[in-house]
Amino acid sequence: MNFYVMTLFPEMVEHGLSTSITGRAMEKGIISLDAVNIRDYTKDRHRKVDDYTYGGGAGMLMTPQPVYDCYRAVTQKIKTGKMPELSELDDDMIPDKKSVRCVYLTPQGEVFNQAKAKELAAEESLILLCGHYEGIDERVLEEIVTDNISIGDYVLTGGELAAMVVCDAVSRMVPGVLTNEMSGVGESFEGGLLEYPQYTRPEIWMGKSVPPILISGDHAKVDKWRYEQSLERTRQRRPDLYEKVDSSKKI
Ligand code: 6GU
Repeated sequence: MNFYVMTLFPEMVEHGLSTSITGRAMEKGIISLDAVNIRDYTKDRHRKVDDYTYGGGAGMLMTPQPVYDCYRAVTQKIKTGKMPELSELDDDMIPDKKSVRCVYLTPQGEVFNQAKAKELAAEESLILLCGHYEGIDERVLEEIVTDNISIGDYVLTGGELAAMVVCDAVSRMVPGVLTNEMSGVGESFEGGLLEYPQYTRPEIWMGKSVPPILISGDHAKVDKWRYEQSLERTRQRRPDLYEKVDSSKKI
């Protein structure tokens, strides 16, 4: 999986993803990350990338030219293997919207979930577009965006944290990123249920014992107990998810 994140704050995205599991996956070459600075593609003498909104109102908007030329650079990199600078863009190469998905991170998007993470993980490359200020001129969004994604019903100062969330969740669905021990099977949202409670040593901590079934050695009983805990936890904490669980699976 090759991620291309178009942003005004590339270091933020690089730092956020270069440690831990995603960092290791990059070192192993299973995923790659190009955080591309939209400002490097502005034609403005003062490197400006924003302007006032037509119709008035508070705040500034990102102008279409730097975003579109950054997008052209990224699509040309995907085709040729080399990231062109603004002056090196090939005007004869017309980006084809259908060849690589371009995700715009916006609170106006479809709310991100595990199913969407799995769907995106099947792509060879993904372009993620982060907005700042009050957003981006609508015309360039119409030209390049294939998917609008929000990470929840709250407002962030920019799309970068959301892009990192999407890259992280998508990465762990890419084969080879998780080891066997951390395999995604059976965890929260697999099968639409939350995870059961887990325990490690010591057997008694602050006077509290580990549930005896987990020490019984009876694997069938352990599985049954965990499943019941998952169901009950989902019912209590996420009634919205519980409603969607097949009634034959409810005990
Ligand atoms: Cl994707 N972007 C911004 N700026 N705010 C958000 C969001 C995205 N998702 C939730 N809030």
